[in-house]
Amino acid sequence: MRGKFITIEGGEGAGKSTNIPNIELFLQKRGIDYVLTREPGGTKMAEEIRNLLLSPREEQVSCITELLLMFAARSQHLEEVIKPALELGKYVLCDRFIDATYAYQGGGRKLNFDTIRALEGLVLSGLHPDLTILFDIDPVIGLERARVRGQLDRFEREELDFFARVREAYLGIAKADPRRCAVIDGSKHQDIVAENLQNILETRLSNDT
Ligand code: TMP
Repeated sequence: MRGKFITIEGGEGAGKSTNIPNIELFLQKRGIDYVLTREPGGTKMAEEIRNLLLSPREEQVSCITELLLMFAARSQHLEEVIKPALELGKYVLCDRFIDATYAYQGGGRKLNFDTIRALEGLVLSGLHPDLTILFDIDPVIGLERARVRGQLDRFEREELDFFARVREAYLGIAKADPRRCAVIDGSKHQDIVAENLQNILETRLSNDT
């Protein structure tokens, strides 16, 4: 039987990194075999593409170049890591996936969603996450958290407006597909966030053990 594909999404500083260990703990306690991975990245080559994408640079990066690199990394990641793991019956826990492209390149960079959809058709060929957990936060708070972490990558250097559009796009996706997406308010105290996450995992993955 194919494993489940769980993706974790959210703007900068929304709580993804803090809470991924909680998801791992949930799976481990139930004896579920899983692979933790991330996008852009997850294979040697895709991590090299990640470095290209995240490094701040003087040269202006065209939105289409950025979009194609995201999908180039994703294609490699899907073939090398995600699909083989799912076929072996493992769960795949992925820190960002296709929704990030709609949110950042679609919302943030204002690229046409149909352009993204065309590449999605080519690269994903129908594969979709079974569950997406979206950590939502006002970008004013999220960016402040990201900034105290230190060196800012090429995306984190964007203006507030960019992240407001990213957030809006993410929330739009979650609203349009509530069966797949669960939204967590990342502005709440960490204990509350962890509790909400636990409830979501118990409800949405209840038939899995
Ligand atoms: P992070 O995973 O460490 O948060 O950083 C990855 C950055 O890449 C983040 O700013 C979001 C961005 N990104 C996109 O713009 N589009 C995508 O499709 C993905 C997966 C990530």
